[in-house]
Amino acid sequence: MSNRIDTTRLQEMARAYTTSAVLYTALDVGLFTHVSNGYNTEALLAQETGLRPVDIDRLVSCALSLDLLDWDGEQLCNAADVETYLVEGKSRYAGPWMMFTRPDVSGWFQMTEKMREPDSTTLGMYDELTVESARKYHQATASIGFGAARRFVRTVDLSNRRHLLDLGGGSGAYSITAVESFEGLQATVLDLPPVVVATEEYIADAGVGDRVTTVGADFTQGEFPSPVDVVVMASNLPIYNSEVIGAVVARAFRALEPGGEMHLIGEMLDNDRKGPVDAAMWGMNELVCGSEGRAHTRSECEEYFRSAGFSDVEVTDFVSGTLARCFGRKA
Ligand SMILES: C[S@@+](CC[C@H](N)C(=O)[O-])C[C@H]1O[C@@H](n2cnc3c(N)ncnc32)[C@H](O)[C@@H]1O
Repeated sequence: MSNRIDTTRLQEMARAYTTSAVLYTALDVGLFTHVSNGYNTEALLAQETGLRPVDIDRLVSCALSLDLLDWDGEQLCNAADVETYLVEGKSRYAGPWMMFTRPDVSGWFQMTEKMREPDSTTLGMYDELTVESARKYHQATASIGFGAARRFVRTVDLSNRRHLLDLGGGSGAYSITAVESFEGLQATVLDLPPVVVATEEYIADAGVGDRVTTVGADFTQGEFPSPVDVVVMASNLPIYNSEVIGAVVARAFRALEPGGEMHLIGEMLDNDRKGPVDAAMWGMNELVCGSEGRAHTRSECEEYFRSAGFSDVEVTDFVSGTLARCFGRKA
């Protein structure tokens, strides 16, 4: 085997933005939805989208080389994940989530300036939330949050629990799914005041208004509703620095009854910080969004839990390569 090095991977990295741009455009023009609906040749796609054949040729070449599309004989077909998550109208359509960070693109390309002239607040992007922007935001988070919540209730048995507190619960995905799965359970979603307006709409749609309530509050301040016997905090971790996360975990500990448990689910770095890349990038996203947040390692999360007083603390994979789950029990 040759040990010669070359520039291939560095060149790919320098132009990695092209991959995001192609995915956004494919979604803009409904490429995967059209293919799924039988417009599965370039001629049919050009006809259906009204785009020039040369642009369809370019887009299809990119999508094939990125393994988004494949050949089925002479016809195009979607890759399995694309067919499941990127075809509009399908129950697991996650297009809103894929497009969710698109408005941040220009900010990512101003990172150097942002580092040289930092302008950050504790809440970052959440300072500016309105009811309307919260609705739009959670249309995106719900498109993957309910899937993650189903995974949570398959992984964690809450059948003997009575009250779940869902910190930064957003669409209510975890609370709604948990009460639907565990008969005796009630839940409280605590989220910022504009967000809980949207949360209540998800709760009403699911018909669980008698079992899931909301509290409009900032979880970086004040004590939490108590007593509860489970606390979940999902997909908030890199928004905040160690001081804030440590304080939230400590207040969650105080809110729990003896014997209660907490689950912190988020993008966590391995302890040597050599990955996952996604966790590191969510930390950097906070520079772009103007908060003080950063990526936390698994051992840092365990330390927040132990310092708060939790025992049986452990971090396990939640979605391998993306999300981890830190667990702790109050003795
Ligand atoms: C990425 S969403 C995750 C929503 C939900 N936990 C899920 O996994 O589907 C993050 C949520 O945390 C909420 N959040 C962030 N900071 C907060 C704070 N300081 N207080 C209350 N909620 C907060 C946001 O408003 C948003 O709804």
